[in-house]
Amino acid sequence: MFKNLKILDEKDKRLRLISKEVTFPLSKEEKESIKDAMEYLKYSQIEEYEKKYNLRAGWGMSAIQIGIDKRWFVIVEEQEDKTFKNYFFANPKIISNSTEKIYVEQGEGCLSVNREVPGIIPRYARVTIEAQDINGKKFKLRLREDLAICVQHEIDHLNGILFIDRIDKKNPYKDAELYRAI
Ligand code: NI
Repeated sequence: MFKNLKILDEKDKRLRLISKEVTFPLSKEEKESIKDAMEYLKYSQIEEYEKKYNLRAGWGMSAIQIGIDKRWFVIVEEQEDKTFKNYFFANPKIISNSTEKIYVEQGEGCLSVNREVPGIIPRYARVTIEAQDINGKKFKLRLREDLAICVQHEIDHLNGILFIDRIDKKNPYKDAELYRAI
């Protein structure tokens, strides 16, 4: 079963912290938190549990969203065969990116922002990330489209930035024609 985590709300000042580098080896508690975050995201995407426990479906979560100011985040992506793929990134950096930018047409969502916020956020369509895995081993991963957006959204969390900060207040759909909608 999953742990019903307390996710910080956008008004919580901790979401504005610059999270600290992750050091290895991870403690037992840290590993437990990572597992809890992954399980939470998985169950939030299963309709039955989403309803039963009044969860909001999400597929990315940064440590700071559960009050841990460390530079890690997880992504749980449902596959075509209904299984879930887990990603863990510690101390992530974007080492290269496409010039092309895209945005989520219906707007980005965030487990810490419990309201609809209209507007677009241009993000790189493709990124190469360098990060460390759960054992501290460095890896590189090239991501595109929605996964690329998700990673950019989560890296923002590690730097105290919420997606709502990136929407132009006066003109939420500013320059939309310059970017590709997904
Ligand atoms: Ni978020």
